[in-house]
Amino acid sequence: MTSLIKSIQDIKNVIAKSAKPLALIPTMGSLHAGHISLIQTAKSECKTIIVYIFVNPLQFGPNEDFSEYPKDLASDLKTCEENNVDFVFAPEINEIYPDIESVKRNLITPPCELADILCGKTRENHFSGVATVIKRFFDIIEPDFAYFGEKDLQQLYIIKWLVKEFNLPVTVQSCPIVREHTGLAYSSRNKYLSADEKNIAASLYKALKLARGNTRSGIFPLNKAILESLIFLSHFPEIKVEYFEAKDKTNLANVHNDTKHGFYYLIAAKIKKVRLIDNIEVP
Ligand code: PAF
Repeated sequence: MTSLIKSIQDIKNVIAKSAKPLALIPTMGSLHAGHISLIQTAKSECKTIIVYIFVNPLQFGPNEDFSEYPKDLASDLKTCEENNVDFVFAPEINEIYPDIESVKRNLITPPCELADILCGKTRENHFSGVATVIKRFFDIIEPDFAYFGEKDLQQLYIIKWLVKEFNLPVTVQSCPIVREHTGLAYSSRNKYLSADEKNIAASLYKALKLARGNTRSGIFPLNKAILESLIFLSHFPEIKVEYFEAKDKTNLANVHNDTKHGFYYLIAAKIKKVRLIDNIEVP
């Protein structure tokens, strides 16, 4: 039986009586197969599972989709119930930020090498908002383990930085991207897309695979592999690519052709107004 909890005091009370290790799965709700895989991994490693649902206003820019972000608490609760989550913590905004203006003036600022690249180039303050909210929930819940999806790869690096920077006693676990049968990565924002648009959106993953294939077979240097994928994507006028880049696995630095490390190709693109991200590892 999953219990819904709304206040910080109540979640702290139940945690005090719960078995350890304690797992936290941070979410903005609208749960999908990607979140379920986080829950299942958490269940295999921990005794008590908390999913938090909180659409964090601090990580949305003024022209982004904060007010339209898909919300369906009843369906999320059902998903959690079906997956044997112990507690869903779904506080109101003022429970987490009693004085949001002061929080906005004191955001946690991750290093620019991680936060100002890729998505950070167009989403100003996004990763400060993410780091700030995650620190708040970690402070309240004090989980032993926290689970994040690899689709939001840059976010994962920021959270690992946060844990190290503040010496937080939590282990960050990451889980592989879960994809629809077309290859499209599950995302809450897929709900904004029609069936046709979802098929088109699956081309992002095809483009990533193309780049990986061209790189592995040594046919092209990295920039040529990226160009080939961009040419492939240009056949879909609905897709507006924001970036397609190669980044080092160790620290998301730029990669050169003679790299000895594994790296990722990462893409962000818009279909209509819907912004999607995806990535692929090149070991
Ligand atoms: O990935 C998300 O859903 C959000 O960025 C997170 C980690 C829950 C923080 O608001």
